[in-house]
Amino acid sequence: MQKWIMSGILIVACAFAAVLMFTLPGKDQVAQEEKPQMPAVTVSAEQAEATVKANCISCHGTDLQGGAGPNLQKIGSELSAEQLYGIITKGKGGGMMPSFKDKLKDEEIANVAMWLAEKK
Ligand code: HEC
Repeated sequence: MQKWIMSGILIVACAFAAVLMFTLPGKDQVAQEEKPQMPAVTVSAEQAEATVKANCISCHGTDLQGGAGPNLQKIGSELSAEQLYGIITKGKGGGMMPSFKDKLKDEEIANVAMWLAEKK
């Protein structure tokens, strides 16, 4: 009789452990949450230019030639779309380059990032 109780407890414990293994966030998942995930978008140059005109040229120059912020005309040869997405989302240089997380939609940032990544 006791044997049955023991193995019953063991089975329940194993099932509980298995459930925990699948529900606890893995290391990969945690790492992904820290790094902003770029949504997949189809690049629209027209939209990107409008977003950049409204938000970026005051610091980066009308032709992205640079000003208060660095020249971005060939930024695609230095940074990938994901890296650009991260910089525009979070900002850079302790706030000198502002974060656009609350000003632009994720998709708008992704579109600008992919557009800039093509500038080589
Ligand atoms: C208030 C001024 C300002 C505005 C507005 C601004 N930036 Fe910047 N940006 C900066 C400064 C200053 C830096 C340099 C930060 C550093 O490297 O420490 C920078 C850096 C960057 C970089 C990194 C360049 C590199 O070589 O590492 C990218 C990319 C960038 N900005 C894109 C943008 C985009 C896209 C927008 C518009 C959505 C924008 N910035 C709006 C000031 C600005």
